This record gives sequence, structure tokens and C-alpha cells, in this order.
Amino acid sequence: MMVRRATITGLGKYVPPKVLTNKDLEKMVDTSDEWITTRTGIKERHIADNDVPASELGLKAAREALQDSGLTAEELDLILVATVTPDMLFPATACIIQEKLGATKAAAFDLEAGCSGFIYGLSVAASFIESGMYENILVIGTEILSKITDWEDRSTCVLFGDGAGAAVLQPTEKGGLLAFDLGADGSGANTLYLPGGGSLNPADETTIKEKMHYLKMEGNQVFKFAVKRMGQASLDVLKKANLKPEDVDLLVPHQANTRIIDAAAKRLNLGEDKVFVNLPKYGNTSSASIPIALVEARENGLVNNGDIIVLVAFGAGLTWASTVIEWNEGEK
Ligand code: COA
Repeated sequence: MMVRRATITGLGKYVPPKVLTNKDLEKMVDTSDEWITTRTGIKERHIADNDVPASELGLKAAREALQDSGLTAEELDLILVATVTPDMLFPATACIIQEKLGATKAAAFDLEAGCSGFIYGLSVAASFIESGMYENILVIGTEILSKITDWEDRSTCVLFGDGAGAAVLQPTEKGGLLAFDLGADGSGANTLYLPGGGSLNPADETTIKEKMHYLKMEGNQVFKFAVKRMGQASLDVLKKANLKPEDVDLLVPHQANTRIIDAAAKRLNLGEDKVFVNLPKYGNTSSASIPIALVEARENGLVNNGDIIVLVAFGAGLTWASTVIEWNEGEK
């Protein structure tokens, strides 16, 4: 019997034009280009204008992904948006994008798994396709982290950036998304979070005065979790796909910190040429980081039909997620 899997048939990305460099940040908080570069690997990040919501970035990435796949918006069965910075708490940002795309047949919902959100989204889409429920699914990661960043807190404001990436998934009988490893450790929920605006600390004078509408992070604890989980999740997913680290052509890790990426690469014994890094240009764009990196890796000739590609991420939750893909986007 033929195996029905999901495969990525189109990719797209969009980042807002405005760039904020480490030198710019030196004028805003007590930091230095040298500190940010050596501790994180980041040099600059893109920042959306005040009147731009996450749906707008996601829409642009989605249009590019659809064009790349050759599908029309009307052919989509489902739109799934991974984000921690939705336009509003509800309705889902996926519904806003659905309307703007004109994807009239598509169901739409958001998924929140921190920076692991895009891979969590791929796993949901793959399951819908493998089960035969849907044929054509659009997964989008879109973030405007600059709007939940405390620009007076040097320990977080140097790390994040804005952007969006998208992928179209369709059925295949050859290759595609071979396996997933997803996980969560809720005991780390209080190491990376946005306390205000939900039902626990709804918006009022106190929550606003105490800056509860900004992202909070215990950087050190998140760092330790990430170093441990990124390598392990990559090894675990390869095992599920009956593959070995030496079979990997390219690792596309969540772009948060080059020291975390280096640790994961070391666990897999992968040389620099097999690990894609674009963190210096964008900072951490949360659920958009993996699809943006995947687009750029393909532009650089590093993603070709038949390649074995591992995606791995960690994020708020705390969560982790990995997938291994035998790349097959068909002939274009
Ligand atoms: N510029 C200059 N100094 C800074 C700074 C900045 N932007 N931010 C923090 N510091 C200082 C701290 O105040 C501290 O000073 P002290 O020793 O006098 O107290 C010192 O630098 C070291 O801080 P520490 O937090 O121990 O540094 P670190 O090596 O752990 O690096 C992070 C900090 C945030 C870069 C690192 O912990 C990290 O990347 N964590 C993971 C974060 C992440 O990826 N989050 C997103 C998850 S999806």
C-alpha cells in the first residue's frame, strides 16, 4: 500500500523594511554591539511600523507561498497560523488572513506553541493530510514581537525581531514530512511569558503600570533548556524516521542564539556547512524564524528534492518540536 504523507510544495516570507541595528540599540539601552554579537550572534532585526499588525506580514508571506506552490487561495482547505502576537486575542489571525486572501473554502484557526509554533503547525497540517481529511493546507508563522517588547529592558529587547514565513502542504507518495517529535514542559511556563491581557491579569491600570503587557524572560533558564532540548529533539526525530545524523543534508534550527544552535549542531556532529543560520540579520522572530530560514536556505541552493532536512525549535511553554523532511516539492 502507498504511504500518504504531507510535503511542502511552496514557501514564502516577508519581513518589514525598517532595520534596527545593534548600534541603534546602543543609543536606547545600556548595551553594546560587542555584547549582543558575542552573547547572541544577532547584528540587526526588522521592525514593523506601528500601524502594521501580524496578519499583514503573514498575508504577504502567504501570497508568496501560494504563488510558489501554484495553488490558488480558493483551493485551500485550511489556514493555520502559529503566533504569539496575534492581531487580537480573538478572532484568530488565521481568519483575518483567510478573508484577505479570499480563501473562501478554508477553515482557519491559530495555534500557540511559542517559537515551536511553526513546527507544531506543520505536524497538525501533516496529520490532516495523512488522514485524508484535507488536501491543501497553508501554515503561517507571523510575529510582531517588537510590540510586546519592553524597549527599556536590555536583557530582552536586543533579542527579538518581526517577520513572517509560510508553507503550503499537499499530499505526496514520495518523501515529505517523515516524522515529528513534539514536547512540552509546563514547569518552565514562568521562564518565558507575557503575563498581562489574558484572563489572569486582564488589562487595567495596575497591569499596565507594572508593564505586564511585555514579554518577560529568565534568559539563563531558557538557555539551559534550549541547549538540552534542541539536540535531543533532533536525535529523537531522526530515530523515529529510521535515519542517522550522518544522513542529514541540512539542519534548519530555530534562530534564537548562535551558541544554542552550535550546541545542537555539535550533538548531531554536523559541520557548519550543514547548519543554516540567518540569525544575524533578523534576531529571534519566534514562529516565523524557521520558515524564513527555510526560504533563504532554498534561495542559497541548500534545499533540493531528495535532501534530508531537519527542522528543530524550542520556545515558550516551554515547548520543543522537530521534524525530518525528505524534501519533495515536485518539479517547478
Ligand atoms: N547588554 C549588555 N549586558 C547585558 C545585556 C545587554 N543587552 N543583557 C544582559 N546583560 C548583562 C546582565 O545584566 C548580566 O550582568 P551581571 O553579570 O552584571 O548581572 C550579564 O550581562 C550576563 O547575563 P546573563 O543573563 O547571565 O547572560 P547569558 O550569557 O545567559 O546571555 C541571553 C543572556 C539572554 C543572551 C541568553 O541567556 C539566552 O540567549 N537565553 C535564551 C533566550 C532565548 O532564546 N529566548 C527565546 C526563546 S524562543
